Amino acid sequence: MTAETKTSVKNLINLLAPTQRDTQTCNSQLQKDPWAFDATLGYGPGASDTDTIPLSAPRQGPLPQLYRELSDEQLHERIQQAKATLGEDLVILGHFYQRDEIVKHADFIGDSFQLANAALTRESAKHIVFCGVHFMAETADILSTDDQSVILPNLAAGCSMADMADLPSVEACWEQLMEVYADEQDGEKAPVIPVTYMNSSAALKAFCGRNGGIVCTSSNAATVLEWAFERGQRVLFFPDQHLGRNIAKAMGISEEQMPLWWSKKPLGGNSEAELKDAKVILWNGFCSVHKRFTTAQIAQAREDYKDQNLRVIVHPECPAPVVEAADESGSTDYIRRAIEDATEPTVFAIGTEINMVNRLAAETPQHTIFCLDPVICPCSTMYRIHPGYLAWVLDELVEGRVVNQIQVPAEDQEHAKIALERMLAAKPRN
Ligand code: 13P
Ligand code: SF4
Repeated sequence: MTAETKTSVKNLINLLAPTQRDTQTCNSQLQKDPWAFDATLGYGPGASDTDTIPLSAPRQGPLPQLYRELSDEQLHERIQQAKATLGEDLVILGHFYQRDEIVKHADFIGDSFQLANAALTRESAKHIVFCGVHFMAETADILSTDDQSVILPNLAAGCSMADMADLPSVEACWEQLMEVYADEQDGEKAPVIPVTYMNSSAALKAFCGRNGGIVCTSSNAATVLEWAFERGQRVLFFPDQHLGRNIAKAMGISEEQMPLWWSKKPLGGNSEAELKDAKVILWNGFCSVHKRFTTAQIAQAREDYKDQNLRVIVHPECPAPVVEAADESGSTDYIRRAIEDATEPTVFAIGTEINMVNRLAAETPQHTIFCLDPVICPCSTMYRIHPGYLAWVLDELVEGRVVNQIQVPAEDQEHAKIALERMLAAKPRN
């Protein structure tokens, strides 16, 4: 097998017999290309398949026929040619979860924090083509200059977790919290500081900017929570309950002081007393990729490799029992570095998205690296970025046309930028 055959999730699925696709992948439709789902309302096959997509979620129009018919090699050539023509005017940014066929064209690959920084510092490029998901492209638009355009090759590449919190629901929550904490308004510290995970809409980042809050990523969440507790008595953390819980627990906050906020229930399903006693109020959101990881999978890995040098590393979007059963947890870049820095041959059992895990396995053959989840189940929305879409948006740029531009409304830009600049100043610890 060539490295490419070995690592590409698409190739891996294609190698399975049709009958195996039902048992070894979470959805046998994964062998199809993403444009097969452009017209359907849903996240597409993959981990978020059964999550409810909001009606307002951006959709992608049909990809021109030509790009649906080109072979992988032809698409590769086309992308390379367009990149050569666009030269310094173009920068392609990519997240670690992207498929290999995209990663090889990216000028920079990183985690969410690094990609936000990259968007801020690529001022000479006229166009930033963002191979990741919608909230990342929005962030790039906010942090880049007004003269730059940010392009998301497939507009349907959203994030089901980000969609679990919308502005009206968060505003309704905030209003109720302000009433509960009315008698604390004049204290030295604010009663509550809003913290949004990077995986959220620009409107929610702006909400945080307007209300003395901040954005965090998985790599700097601990620094951000400390920032928030210097200014407030509590934190409202959205949308990812697991990241919020894992980081707060590591800071010594007890689960009893972390009520869950159910947006459809009055007071989020909590009593006033519980909210007054709270330290971190957790929005009831989650990532469907990371919720697949279990303590049973970790126990199995420990059993299978009991006489070997095993390290279990998971992303902090995994549920708390999984993070606690693992040896380490950290952002996608933390996971990458942990593997890169290991000097002895090691068995790494990883709890994060399959494209990244397979790539790390191919790049570092001195280690044994596998995904804790035995079923092939990529992030449904990262999978939407296919070389066909990348070739199309680049060819359009060559022709002087900007398609699929992500433009955050002016009313959100200013305040979202405040919250993002606070985030960029809160450096990751490791
Ligand atoms: P990272 O910031 O760790 O790359 O995580 C982004 C993400 O969406 C994980 O699901
Ligand atoms: Fe969103 Fe989860 Fe995909 Fe990350 S892995 S983009 S949180 S759905």
